[in-house]
Amino acid sequence: MSAKQEIILSGIRPTGRLHYGNYFGAIKSFIELQGKGHQCYYFIADYHALTTISERVDFFQQTIDMLRTYVACGLDPAQSVIYRQSDLPCTAELSLLLGMITNIGHLERGTTYKDKLSKLEQGAQGLEGNPLSFGLLGYPVLMAADILIVRANQVPVGDDQRQHVEMAMDIAQKFNHRFGETLTIPRAVQRNALRLPGLDGSAKMGKSDNNTLDLLDDPKTVLKKIKGVQTTTDPEPLDTESNDPDAVIPRMPNSVGALYRMLSLLAPEEVYLEFVGKYRRGEKFYGTLKTTLAEYVSKFNEPIIERFNAPENTPESVKDFLRENARKVTPVALETVEACREAMGIGRSLYRA
Ligand code: TRP
Repeated sequence: MSAKQEIILSGIRPTGRLHYGNYFGAIKSFIELQGKGHQCYYFIADYHALTTISERVDFFQQTIDMLRTYVACGLDPAQSVIYRQSDLPCTAELSLLLGMITNIGHLERGTTYKDKLSKLEQGAQGLEGNPLSFGLLGYPVLMAADILIVRANQVPVGDDQRQHVEMAMDIAQKFNHRFGETLTIPRAVQRNALRLPGLDGSAKMGKSDNNTLDLLDDPKTVLKKIKGVQTTTDPEPLDTESNDPDAVIPRMPNSVGALYRMLSLLAPEEVYLEFVGKYRRGEKFYGTLKTTLAEYVSKFNEPIIERFNAPENTPESVKDFLRENARKVTPVALETVEACREAMGIGRSLYRA
């Protein structure tokens, strides 16, 4: 047991399929945080998924598939408390309470809201439905409720979510200032995360459907996707002596960089170095680079696919641990909500234990 037990919380959007960007950006660091004596809460942000909905999506099914993949990667529901946000509906109650002290002006500076607004102003297609919903504006308030309800003191997030965590800190401080010390002030911690480029040469894997390598892709699919990566440009001189991926990769065309990044993560160092050497010398090598990388990716995927399909990793078993973990977190969460009700002056619920 470590000297001080930290309460760690992070939320995951229910996307269904998981790709390498998810793995190296989040899953890996969640797994590393397990078993270090901390209390880890990981939840599926299914309410949040509804903030940008334009047609019905089966988030329940996506949640189940995603969690089977998480378990296949090594996340352990016996060590970490894994639950669905919507199984903890008092989160919505806390969000309502926190909304009472949150300025609209503050929310209008939120990145998710601003991005959507600017896309609308540029006349983007496919944003039918209710693109500027009350729910979307309130996204950071709901996120603050997620964090504050379990009194998390560490929130590991990638850069794109930092602002939201800072808003949660502000809301908690404001609450305590106005109504007395009630909430624990959280802090954002840098997630040990790597932003993987997309196979199509875009900056981030996952931005579009056709630019990801998925953890459940079979060898044939892996090879097909990797062969499809655009490598028509000849290598450019690297103008650095260093072989460090962080020095070399930014000097390559993006799609080629994506291949080298994957190689540096999955292959033994000498294999990565061999291909950096070929790049420097401008040899013809893209074909072997691709088949070599495809082999390492398939080797990485193989045990994940096997554990995904293991007899003990069924949709039923996922439902069982979701139920059990929601039961575990509920008393902790209700205690926070009741304390806030009391602090704000409406008093504790008359019917809840
Ligand atoms: N907004 C986060 C994302 O898009 C998910 C999320 C919801 C979250 N609530 C959270 C992350 C609370 C950390 C803490 O990735």
